[in-house]
Amino acid sequence: MVSRVIPVEPFDLVIFGATGDLARRKILPGLYRRFCDGQMPPDASIIGAARTEQDSAAFVAQVVEAIETFLPATKRDQDSLAAFCARLRYVAVDAMGEGGWAELAQMMRPDVVQAFYFSVAPSLFGALAERLHHFNIARQDARIVVEKPFGRDRETARALNATLAAHFNETQIYRIDHYLGKETVQNLMAVRFGNTLFEPLWNAQYVDHVQITVAEEVGVGGRGAYYDKSGAMRDMVQNHLMQLLCLTAMEPPARFEPDAVRDEKLKVIRALEPVAQKQIVRGQYQAGVKPSYLDDVENPASRTESFIAMKLQIANWRWNGTPFYLRTGKRMKARKSEIVIHFKTPPHSIFDADAGRRANVLSIRLQPDEGIDLRVTIKEPGPGGMRLIDVPLDMSFAEALGPEAADVPDAYERLIMDVIRGNQTLFMRGDEVEAAWGWTDPIIAAWEAQGTRPLPYAPGSTGPEEAAILMHQDGRRWQDI
Ligand SMILES: NC(=O)c1ccc[n+]([C@@H]2O[C@H](COP(=O)([O-])OP(=O)(O)OC[C@H]3O[C@@H](n4cnc5c(N)ncnc54)[C@H](OP(=O)(O)O)[C@@H]3O)[C@@H](O)[C@H]2O)c1
Repeated sequence: MVSRVIPVEPFDLVIFGATGDLARRKILPGLYRRFCDGQMPPDASIIGAARTEQDSAAFVAQVVEAIETFLPATKRDQDSLAAFCARLRYVAVDAMGEGGWAELAQMMRPDVVQAFYFSVAPSLFGALAERLHHFNIARQDARIVVEKPFGRDRETARALNATLAAHFNETQIYRIDHYLGKETVQNLMAVRFGNTLFEPLWNAQYVDHVQITVAEEVGVGGRGAYYDKSGAMRDMVQNHLMQLLCLTAMEPPARFEPDAVRDEKLKVIRALEPVAQKQIVRGQYQAGVKPSYLDDVENPASRTESFIAMKLQIANWRWNGTPFYLRTGKRMKARKSEIVIHFKTPPHSIFDADAGRRANVLSIRLQPDEGIDLRVTIKEPGPGGMRLIDVPLDMSFAEALGPEAADVPDAYERLIMDVIRGNQTLFMRGDEVEAAWGWTDPIIAAWEAQGTRPLPYAPGSTGPEEAAILMHQDGRRWQDI
């Protein structure tokens, strides 16, 4: 089954920070893929912008090198690469200076969609927004795309929101959380709200608990200096895991529209109960074949966590009494992201005690091998009497929908096309981001006040033993990673 590609309107997309890591790894290769898929109209224009003084030809050479580095040979060819590069231009601008802006203004067309990707440090957002207006470049309907981290607490997020709001209204601002662009995350909404099968059971009466795991095999790598100032709570929980939690727990929106969806997500964040410190486990990976966290960040005194596990409660009618367990970490056993819904065991068993009691489990796999798996209880085959086992009803998207459908656009590709389409459903609203920080701030403040060190854990493991205990004391266990 081949997915349908709907071309977007003609556009001018300016990428500030076009020479940076994110542009090289994700944005430009992603745009090329959309071009190859026929989603980009012939007169789309992409303008790279950064301080580096270079002409468009030098920029094009960089983009070709990036695409050749980050896309496999099977996903590119010389003809389409040349045609894509004909869409590219470059202008040298300094967000903090005056040079280059008049030139950029000249490059923009009046009658096409206008989008500006701020792929630069957040400290430059204000200067960029101001200059886009001062030089009369951004129109009333222009869109801006901003990256994480969106603040490091509620106060800084509020200040960033206010900076952007001075020049753009909320309908123009696209705050990216690339987890929301993943195919399975959107499938979570399709599964919940496109089937009658699950939604009636999606509540505390039938769901025992929910587990959300985002495990990475990699360590902090070259991002040590940045990561050490942030940690798993700020880097992963406040944004990505919180978004997954919201989509899992929210009420059905009246329509699949940006504000209807975002209103419901916001209600979940506001319903989160404060978390006691004893419900949280923080960890730091030790040395193995590779260096320890402390060596990676070159800070032997670091108290920043590279792992976190926590138990949350949502105080509303739907979820009262059903805990949500969140877990994320670096240098873990495997790379795996999934949302797992553990349903309750049947209230009464008609079978002998020997048959055993089983519970249904619905797993929504984000990576690797995106798909959905539902474990159902059946009789163990054979003459051994009634013994219950559970078996998977497994739908790997790659298997069920064919190889083309498995080759779905990367989250960035999809989200950039949504910006051009003017669809904000998969982007975070300012009040959502502030509310999420409002929930994490007191937790982080308590750690800082106590000055406790995260617990050590072995690389390639599932985190500190205490994370398993957090579950065991509730009579539950984590899904294997
Ligand atoms: N890299 C990732 O995987 C990743 C993931 C999630 C979020 N992000 C976020 O995305 C943004 C960009 O990250 P990055 O990793 O690409 O950073 P980066 O590699 O440091 O690139 C920064 C870019 O900004 C440009 N720049 C710096 N100062 C400038 C100025 N005064 N005026 C105009 N351009 C300027 C740089 O080019 P010149 O030096 O030529 O000016 C460069 O193109 C950051 O907010 C980051 O937190 C990155």
